[in-house]
Amino acid sequence: MNILLTGGAGFIGSHTLVELYKAGHTAVVVDNLSNSSPESISRVGAILAEEPTVGHPVEIPFFPVDIRDRAALEEVFSRYSFDACIHFAGLKAVGESVEKPWEYYENNIGGTLILVDVMRRHGCKNIIFSSSATVYGDPAEIPITEQCPKGQCTNPYGWTKSMLEQILSDLREADPEWHVVLLRYFNPVGAHPSGRIGENPNGIPNNLMPYITQVAVGKRAELGVFGNDYPTTDGTGVRDYIHVVDLASGHVAALQCFQPDFHSADGQPFVYNLGTGHGYSVLDMVKTFERVNGVPIPYSIKPRRAGDIATCYSNPAKAERELGWKAQYDVADMVRDSWCWQRKNPDGYQR
Ligand code: NAD
Ligand code: UD1
Repeated sequence: MNILLTGGAGFIGSHTLVELYKAGHTAVVVDNLSNSSPESISRVGAILAEEPTVGHPVEIPFFPVDIRDRAALEEVFSRYSFDACIHFAGLKAVGESVEKPWEYYENNIGGTLILVDVMRRHGCKNIIFSSSATVYGDPAEIPITEQCPKGQCTNPYGWTKSMLEQILSDLREADPEWHVVLLRYFNPVGAHPSGRIGENPNGIPNNLMPYITQVAVGKRAELGVFGNDYPTTDGTGVRDYIHVVDLASGHVAALQCFQPDFHSADGQPFVYNLGTGHGYSVLDMVKTFERVNGVPIPYSIKPRRAGDIATCYSNPAKAERELGWKAQYDVADMVRDSWCWQRKNPDGYQR
């Protein structure tokens, strides 16, 4: 298939590019580079040259386009014919979304509305949307299945995901030609095992794994562990960390939803959790990182972070049953590959 990747220069998008080409698909990237560097796309080309299934350098078409720029998006659609869109483009910093809610709603929701309008005008009605476990709020059940009711989000970023799920589901309800796949990611970490592409956070990382790797590389003095009084095995928050390469291959697997004979069994059409089904605490992650990489991670216990929940992990059985997808990498692989990327690229892509 020929796929439009919005936000394809970013963390998950760049890894998905690799898996798409490995599986024999082609892709065109649009990204406004607000949180990424075009260097990631050149590096994907270099990774593919060494892939046995590809074996030659790949020049991936890239357009520095903002999805809110209708005319520029129209231009891309007039040059290519797309079978589907994988829609990663969006702002994702939780704390920033609390300070700048208008910017988050305008970029994430406004951008998606323009994107789907241009898509339908060009007869492309297949979309995979990057959603998040955040839509479950404080989950009503653990492990979380897709049947778990959506909950109250604690920040505007989370609401953009929840609202966009509703908007895209309504589109699909009104027009059966639309095929909408909502992928709810748990906690993506890790990097391509080559260490050439990875997560490139702007400023002080909000998320656990990039913070740990920045402590390891000497950019931060110590990790603050946000609370050790949760009702978990060691009192720290428990999450379902998933290797970004597994997450990327989940998108390739999800493309089969667009085949005419594809059916989802459970009446929750095309909603899939992408997680491993295992929960690890903050201290589990710190200790695993230290053990696997042989690098100490000094930490101290801090107060709980506002909006955090105690425990969040998936039941990923539906994706395995219907898409034949299951996470392959374990937590040791995740910390090894995160560290390999950070060590080789202490300043990321040096934007
Ligand atoms: P990222 O910031 O690395 O990638 C997003 C990309 O979108 C960036 O390259 C950015 O420049 C681009 N972008 C933003 N607004 C745009 C616009 N208006 N037009 C064009 N490009 C735009 O983030 P990521 O971690 O790769 O996340 C990808 C998607 O997955 C996002 O939608 C994010 O909300 C979602 N998601 C991420 C996580 C996570 O922990 N990383 C978890 C759940 C969901
Ligand atoms: C956060 C977001 C969520 C988003 C997800 C992926 C919040 C409340 N939630 O999820 O909406 O979809 O990122 O981008 O921000 N931790 C520390 N010290 C740190 C950083 C994190 O102890 O410096 C702890 C957290 O308290 C949590 C765990 O590590 O228990 C994971 O945190 P994080 O990586 O930020 O992910 P989530 O909070 O699960």
